[in-house]
Order: sequence, then structure tokens, then C-alpha cells
Amino acid sequence: MAVLPMTIPSRLDELMPDIPGSVFNSAFRLACERLDGFVGALSVELAAELGLGTGEVPPVESLADQRGWKNEGALSLRWLLETLELYGEAERRGDGWRLRGGTPPASSAQLRAEGEFALPATRPAYEVFTLSANALPGILKGQLRGEDALFGPAAMGLWFDYFSNANPHYAPNNQVTALAVERAVGPGARVLEVGGGGGSAALALLDALAKEHKTPSNYVFTELQPAFLRRGVRAIQQVLPGGCDLRSFRYDIDVDPAAQGVEAGQFDAVFGVNTLHLAREVIGTLQRLRALLRPGGVLVVGELLRPTPTAAVHLELPFTLLTTYCQAPLEEGIRVRPGFMSVSGWRRALEAAGFTKISILPAEIERCSEIYPGFYCGAITARA
Ligand SMILES: C[S@@+](CC[C@H](N)C(=O)[O-])C[C@H]1O[C@@H](n2cnc3c(N)ncnc32)[C@H](O)[C@@H]1O
Repeated sequence: MAVLPMTIPSRLDELMPDIPGSVFNSAFRLACERLDGFVGALSVELAAELGLGTGEVPPVESLADQRGWKNEGALSLRWLLETLELYGEAERRGDGWRLRGGTPPASSAQLRAEGEFALPATRPAYEVFTLSANALPGILKGQLRGEDALFGPAAMGLWFDYFSNANPHYAPNNQVTALAVERAVGPGARVLEVGGGGGSAALALLDALAKEHKTPSNYVFTELQPAFLRRGVRAIQQVLPGGCDLRSFRYDIDVDPAAQGVEAGQFDAVFGVNTLHLAREVIGTLQRLRALLRPGGVLVVGELLRPTPTAAVHLELPFTLLTTYCQAPLEEGIRVRPGFMSVSGWRRALEAAGFTKISILPAEIERCSEIYPGFYCGAITARA
């Protein structure tokens, strides 16, 4: 099933009449096509570095056992084999795999240099991937923790650059979610953001609301990590419209809001971008957020959406290195594999949490990912 890399079909645009053409624009396409090629080459190189070479490879658990590799790298190994399959470099054999052991037409270093030259703003995506691939052998040997490799002091700036509206790979997540929230609220809305990170989703939402003259009355910006929280608040303060009251505090989506001083029923909209899949217990977290909404208020879940409940996500490597991502418990029919969830998983979870009127932007996201399997970006809206 070799599908990547590919030229993104132009009919992708026709499948998204509900999203302005400026969101999935030519920079996004070019950025994706270039990064896809790089990820393919990097995967082949990584397999060779790990001594996987050519021929039969047993299932991930047996492979890790044979090599004495640590469990912490198991999800990344699964990512590697599934990604090689997506690029036609591996095929499934029973529970195991057969690797082709091909040589990429160009090295990942060359493809990175060309990609960054064509679109300098994509540098953070290449750097995050390179950092992750370099860390994996050490993580498998138990010499390194993913969190330390990716979130050490030297890497913090990189993450602010990655989760940024200047990054063509990340900006559409924020823009699509901002559109969904903006369309669901009127002027004077009281908005809560969870997992706001360095503030890029907040900036996108405030921009979308300003364009439609829908100044919110309250913006409550929350985040788990104090360093991100401080950075996010500073960014928001620069663009906060007059008449909008800003509050910010540390907030954990896994914990009862009342225990964190947040009163029930006070928001018109609650949203998060690429945060809610990290919930320890998806339905419980959604129920707690629903309780914070006024009746009829809206939750918007901006997420990287897996094309099917078990489909591979070729951009997943960095996240597979993190224990919080790997260890979030599975929930039947909802989170059937660790990490990012599918549209159907979110729909079930939202229904189970008592939400109604569930819709997705772009509405045809599943058809989008059928014609371009690297298309993962969507926002799900649900009413309390
Ligand atoms: C992918 S980042 C989101 C980036 C952010 N939305 C932005 O626009 O820049 C995920 C965020 O979720 C936060 N997070 C992780 N676990 C969390 C939890 N239990 N409660 C709240 N936030 C959490 C992380 O600290 C991180 O900032």
C-alpha cells in the first residue's frame, strides 16, 4: 500500500467548500509534499541504523525482546514499521513485517535542505523530526527519556517555533479550530481555552473573532506547564482587544474543575488544540468540560485526526517518544490505539459525555484523507 510521498490531488480543495482557500493554501501543500518525502527517507535511514535492514521482521513486541530494547520505544517502533509500509518500504507478513531495504532516491539531509530552502518557515518541523529520530536509538536502549530529549531547556524555543502560526505545518490546526469556534459564538462570548501552550491557537482565534467583529467579553487562557502559560499570556496580551477581560491560570484537564477553582456553567465556548487526546480518561474529561459550559454552549476539539481508528500517522514520531502520549489508557471504540484519535472515536466519546449536534470541519475530512493520507487536520464542534 505505497501511498506516500505523493503530489496532493488538486481536488482536495473541492472537498473543503466550508474552509477558506487561505487555510490549506499552496504553502501548506508544498510544505506537506516536501516534508512527506523527508519523512520517508528518514524512516528508511532510521530502520537501517537500527539494524532492521532487509527481510523479515517479527512483531514489535518480539523484535524489542530479541534486541533487548525498552518498552518505552515500542510505539515509535510501531510508527516506524507502519510508516515504512505507507511508503511502500515494508509489507505486513502475518503479525510481522517484511522490509524492502531500499535506498531512498535522496538522503533525508538533502531533502531537508531543499525543503527548508523552498519554505524557510518549515524548519521547526524538520528539526523536531530530526531531534526525534536521533533520540530513538538511545530511548530503545534505555539511555534516554523521550521527555528529556524533546523538552530539555535547549529545545523549548524549538517547540514555540513549531506550535506557531508561522509554521505552515501547524497553522491550519489553529485556523480550522478558530473558524469552528468563531462560527459557533456571537459577540461578547466567554471563552475558555485548555492546553493553550505558547498561545498560538489563542492568537488565531482572537484574529478570527476580530475579523467578524465578535469581541469576546472574557478570554480564560489555561495551560498545564507554567513556562508555556507565561509565554502564552504574553503573546495574547499583545493582541487582546479592548473590552475583553483576560484571565489565565494553570489548569489540568484530568482534574475536577471545582478543585481548580473553576465554576460550572460559565462559558459559551470551551476549546483546545491538540490537547484533549492527552486526557487520561477521554469521556471523563469531556464530561468535566461540558459542565463548564452554559446550556447550549459549545465545545470545539481541534485535533490531529487519525484517518481511521487504527490508521498510521506518518507525522506521529515525536509524540510516540513521550510517555504521557503512549500511556494514555485505551478506551474501547474511542481510543483504540495510543495517542491521536479518529473522527469516529471523538464522536463516540462526545456522545458518551452527553454532547449533541456534533459536526466536523472540514465536513468531508474522511474523504480528504482518502485522497491524501497525510491529511489529518480538523475541528469537532459539539453542543452541551
Ligand atoms: C500540542 S500542545 C498545544 C499547543 C497550543 N494549543 C498552541 O496553540 O500553541 C499540547 C498542550 O497541552 C498541554 N497539556 C498536556 N497535558 C495537559 C493536561 N493534563 N491538562 C492541560 N494541558 C495539558 C501541554 O503542556 C501542551 O502545551
